[in-house]
Amino acid sequence: MYVCICNSVTDRDIVKAVDEGISTLEGLGEALNVGTCCGRCASCAEGLIQSTQMKNGYDADPMQLAVMA
Ligand code: FES
Repeated sequence: MYVCICNSVTDRDIVKAVDEGISTLEGLGEALNVGTCCGRCASCAEGLIQSTQMKNGYDADPMQLAVMA
C-alpha cells in the first residue's frame, strides 16, 4: 500500500529501508523522500519505523510510542 502518495513510496519500501538501518523519519526523507512534500504521511511512516524495529527486536523509543498513541 502507498504510504507516501506524493513520492510513490509503499509500506514495503519503508520496511526495507528500516531493515537496512534507517531509524528516523528524517532518514526516510533522505533515502526515499518520505514526508518531504505535504507531510501527511509522516505519522504513518513513523508508525512503520516503530513496528518494523519492534519486529526486528529493537527496543521502541517510549517517547515515540507515546506520540503515536
Ligand atoms: S504523502 Fe508523503 S509527503 Fe505527501
